[in-house]
Amino acid sequence: MACNYEIVQIVVGVLVLGLFDSRTAQCRPSRVLESIEYSALSCRKHTASLTDFGGVPDGKTSNTKAFKVAIDKLSSLAGDGGAQLIVPPGKWLTGSFNLTSHFTLFIQQGAVILASQDESEWPLLPPLPSYGRGRDAPGDRFSSLIFGTNLTDVIITGNNGTIDGQGESWWKKFRNGELHNTRPYLIEIMHSDRVQISDITLINSPSWNVHPVYSSNVLVQRLTILAPIDSPNTDGIDPDSCTNTRIEDCYIVSGDDCIAVKSGWDQYGIKFGMPTEKLIIRRLTCISPDSATIALGSEMSGGIKDVRAEDIIAINTQSGIRIKTAIGRGAYVRDIFVRRMNMKTMKYVFWMSGSYNQHPDPGFDPKAFPKIENINYKDVRAENVTYSARLEGIPQDPFTGVCISNVSINLTEKPKELQWNCTNIAGVTSHVNPKACNLLPEKEEPINCPFPNDRLPIEDISIQKCKI
Ligand SMILES: *[C@@H]1O[C@H](CO)[C@@H](O)[C@H](O)[C@H]1NC(C)=O
Ligand SMILES: *[C@@H]1O[C@H](CO)[C@@H](O)[C@H](O)[C@H]1NC(C)=O
Ligand SMILES: *[C@@H]1O[C@H](CO)[C@@H](O)[C@H](O)[C@H]1NC(C)=O
Ligand SMILES: *[C@@H]1O[C@H](CO)[C@@H](O)[C@H](O)[C@H]1NC(C)=O
Ligand SMILES: *[C@@H]1O[C@H](CO)[C@@H](O)[C@H](O)[C@H]1NC(C)=O
Ligand SMILES: *[C@@H]1O[C@H](CO)[C@@H](O)[C@H](O)[C@H]1NC(C)=O
Ligand SMILES: *[C@@H]1O[C@H](CO)[C@@H](O)[C@H](O)[C@H]1NC(C)=O
Repeated sequence: MACNYEIVQIVVGVLVLGLFDSRTAQCRPSRVLESIEYSALSCRKHTASLTDFGGVPDGKTSNTKAFKVAIDKLSSLAGDGGAQLIVPPGKWLTGSFNLTSHFTLFIQQGAVILASQDESEWPLLPPLPSYGRGRDAPGDRFSSLIFGTNLTDVIITGNNGTIDGQGESWWKKFRNGELHNTRPYLIEIMHSDRVQISDITLINSPSWNVHPVYSSNVLVQRLTILAPIDSPNTDGIDPDSCTNTRIEDCYIVSGDDCIAVKSGWDQYGIKFGMPTEKLIIRRLTCISPDSATIALGSEMSGGIKDVRAEDIIAINTQSGIRIKTAIGRGAYVRDIFVRRMNMKTMKYVFWMSGSYNQHPDPGFDPKAFPKIENINYKDVRAENVTYSARLEGIPQDPFTGVCISNVSINLTEKPKELQWNCTNIAGVTSHVNPKACNLLPEKEEPINCPFPNDRLPIEDISIQKCKI
């Protein structure tokens, strides 16, 4: 370890002379300097700084090797209390790198991890088995900037340090049809258990920002995610075939859905068969004029169930909650519970689309009807709305068990005449204004749509106070 006793001695010595260099001091400052406290699923016994491994924060030198050497070295401490790698203030240009288990990446305030624009810095990975192909192109996909697979206990956090995807050049290539592989995400954690991503800012991702996939016990907290509102596919957070996920206190401005809940695509997702379930989303603020605050789908072929969303704010956003599916997806979206949404300047408050006909290839099963049932929305306020609801089920496959209660919607100056446009759906409403469609009749006795009272395991996961 570079972060040894001698270095601490030197730091203390220099400190006495009042001349210490704050960058060296990041190495082990806990007793001698202002220490940083943070909350995490696990604390680590060992600490190192990227500078200990030859990192250069000038925004020009590639640090891909420094990250690799650092994390390879620190992975040997997994069995001895684990390690935290500090990314100190400065601009750290890097290509894709891989995380390890029992490990924390801590991005300090003033640190910016800058994504390289050189394609050779991004290894290619095969398509996800539940998708069958890349999202942008049928070939491989560029590994995400920060990638991890088959890990336990991995944390990406900071005191609001930044990851800058420098997405502009990728967006340009995407728009010009110049990509032969799928664009990278900023963070993808695959086949992992006990994952935390918190207290950092993500800007200008080439595509999706945060993608936990095939994982469990995932905690996402206090992220600021920013991308131009016209940037392509810059989804905020995409829990995909994950169990026990909690997303809270995030602020997202993006060019695509702020949160998109997924579980694989058509025949590939059906075959893989891994749902997203036990998902909590709370205290989210979203701005996304062309997309949804929370989308369920469109890739939902492993199923989506038991989603609980509450205290959601949306401003200048296309829709509140949107279900997207199509024939060929199969599986289900069921047991969805949403309460306390507050929205302003929305095209649609509620939107369900049964004809989201994007398919990976012509090999999808035309008899794979998705089952959409037990969808519950209550305590919703919205103002300056164009359409209250567009609820489009599938002929021969209606969406059922829709319950909507205590909803107050004020319309724009020039609202559309048909406020509730309903086809192939069934359910009830209560205290909804403007009055809903005939397919969602108002109950004579007022009802309160359900929201579960029990707690999910991810709500009771223990969180430690850690120090650097
Ligand atoms: C990260 O791990 C994946 C899967 O093991 C591998 O294909 C990829 O090359 C690794 N990336 C880097 C930058 O080493
Ligand atoms: C990662 O985990 C998955 C699912 O358990 C398994 O199929 C795969 O072989 C593992 N990969 C590695 C590199 O261990
Ligand atoms: C983190 O930084 C972003 C971007 O500068 C800022 O908008 C946000 O308010 C900061 N969050 C916290 C918790 O300090
Ligand atoms: C209301 O919504 C319209 C778009 O439908 C928008 O142009 C206008 O600025 C909004 N008004 C307010 C007061 O936010
Ligand atoms: C209706 O929803 C509002 C929030 O939008 C809430 O303050 C109010 O208590 C709810 N009313 C009932 C009867 O639950
Ligand atoms: C809708 O407008 C009415 C009358 O101006 C107001 O009392 C109510 O609070 C508004 N509701 C919402 C959700 O903005
Ligand atoms: C109602 O919804 C259907 C299906 O989404 C759409 O095709 C139709 O144009 C809508 N009608 C109006 C008047 O908005």
